[in-house]
Amino acid sequence: MRTPTEPHFEVRLDADHPGLHDQNYRRRRDQIARLARDHVSGTPPERVAYTDEENETWATIGSHLRPSLERHAAREVVESMARWAPWSAPIPQLADLSAPGGPLEATGFVFEPVHGLLSSRDFFAALRRGVFRSTQYMRHPSRPLYTPEPDLVHELVGHAGTFAIPGVAELSVAFGEAAAGADADQLAMLERLYWYSVEFGVVLEEGEPKAFGAGLLSSAGELGALPRTELRPFDPATVSNTVYVTDRVQPVLFAAGSLGELLGLTLEAVRAMP
Ligand SMILES: [Fe+2]
Repeated sequence: MRTPTEPHFEVRLDADHPGLHDQNYRRRRDQIARLARDHVSGTPPERVAYTDEENETWATIGSHLRPSLERHAAREVVESMARWAPWSAPIPQLADLSAPGGPLEATGFVFEPVHGLLSSRDFFAALRRGVFRSTQYMRHPSRPLYTPEPDLVHELVGHAGTFAIPGVAELSVAFGEAAAGADADQLAMLERLYWYSVEFGVVLEEGEPKAFGAGLLSSAGELGALPRTELRPFDPATVSNTVYVTDRVQPVLFAAGSLGELLGLTLEAVRAMP
């Protein structure tokens, strides 16, 4: 039971979250959550004045993640990130992602801030409209290479960075369209397809596994574990019936022969959903 002197926080953090007992961090999370809560869809996302500490965390993550990406990310991702070059400046603003030189420039997609947990149905419904619902906060500075929840690094490096790759925006909209008419079982199949492609998709380059999925791209730990991860062929029928884990490094992933094959097979399967 809360006492009258105990602060009330809008954003709930898990018991093992690195920022659980950091009152300043929690106030900051609330502040950014309120910006997202007050966002009006269809208008540009509010710009966040990121603090020096947040920008330092971004730079620290970049110094670790960048070499891992060059070593383990799919060629198309490496090229896309090199063109965008998000590490060379302070934390990118959601509002600037669609600007010239931004990864969404050619697609018409926009990133809009999300206030709290979002159901998969609402997430897919936004994709259908060309909107990616994104968090806007930075992880806790005490553990720059770890986050127990999707944060800006996941959204920017994992998702925004891949939107410049042909086929990613089209696939995202297709997920949204399929989800609009899906029953609960079909929605669960779409979630698994999304998980093993957009979030944790792997492609082979000269027989070597390379990361495409956002969950891999945004985590040096996941990228480093990729060469040791059990891989199975990317077969949409198998993928859509394989339950995934969210609380540890992925034990099994699915690899396609190329990124074109991964995106093509997934698109075909999503569009074939009844
Ligand atoms: Fe994600």
